[in-house]
Amino acid sequence: MENQIVLVTGAANGIGRATARAFAARGAAHVAITDIDEPAARTLADEIGARASAHQLDVTDREQTDAVFDAVAERAGPVTIVHANAGVSTMKPAVDLTEQDWDFNMGVNAKGIFLTNQAAIRHFDAHATTGVIVNTASLAAKVGAPFLAHYSASKFAVVGWTQALAREVAPRGIRVNAVCPGFVKTPMQDREVRWEADLLGTTPDAVRQSYIDQTPLGRLETPEDVAGVVVFLASDGARFMTGQAINVTGGVYMT
Ligand SMILES: NC(=O)c1ccc[n+]([C@@H]2O[C@H](COP(=O)([O-])OP(=O)(O)OC[C@H]3O[C@@H](n4cnc5c(N)ncnc54)[C@H](O)[C@@H]3O)[C@@H](O)[C@H]2O)c1
Repeated sequence: MENQIVLVTGAANGIGRATARAFAARGAAHVAITDIDEPAARTLADEIGARASAHQLDVTDREQTDAVFDAVAERAGPVTIVHANAGVSTMKPAVDLTEQDWDFNMGVNAKGIFLTNQAAIRHFDAHATTGVIVNTASLAAKVGAPFLAHYSASKFAVVGWTQALAREVAPRGIRVNAVCPGFVKTPMQDREVRWEADLLGTTPDAVRQSYIDQTPLGRLETPEDVAGVVVFLASDGARFMTGQAINVTGGVYMT
């Protein structure tokens, strides 16, 4: 990772935070911590030190996205690795979903990936660099998840986008892959177990236990479990992989 300039979206918490730390620990020249929550991004950048910067970035905003790529290039050099990770969820039975639920999940999870990836490709082209993109999809991009129909739809979209873009840019040597995490201990999961417990009339602990029971490797996933695979996909070790959506679920989903 020595000469790599890395940009991570949704990097202030959870999976993105673990990924940013992992790239820094493996010697990346610079890690741009971007998040809609700029103070939280700054806290992580301060922790990592001189090889990190913090940026306010709402991934649904095209102008902001383009501007952050430019700002990072100005400060540290052209971006070479992008982890498009920002995502949100809400939870309801499909028949009760509102248009707001649909637009919020589609807006951040699907449109956010579209805008971040498009900005990345344009940036790579403008700086004549051969970059790598890793998108965060989900287990819910492989199998529909109850109470998460809109979220599942947005994550299936991420996989379709990843495959199509990978084919288009492969002749330029640019690789695009996705990770599909399972039940990861993050602030998102803390919110979801509360919502799911309310919907099922049970407790958050019982919901967490049901996640563990579905997981052959027998525990909740950690953000670091995902980060290791993201770093691998961005590395030269994965140089002949593109258009893949890699399950990182402890065996919950196996095909
Ligand atoms: N936690 C899980 O079990 C799980 C499983 C599969 C996939 N995922 C996916 O992994 C990714 C990260 O999830 P997490 O669990 O770390 O979530 P999280 O809520 O813990 O962290 C997400 C981060 O994204 C930021 N964010 C939210 N909206 C944003 C926006 N519009 N622009 C930029 N940043 C924004 C938040 O401020 C937060 O820092 C998401 O795409 C999520 O869908 C999570």
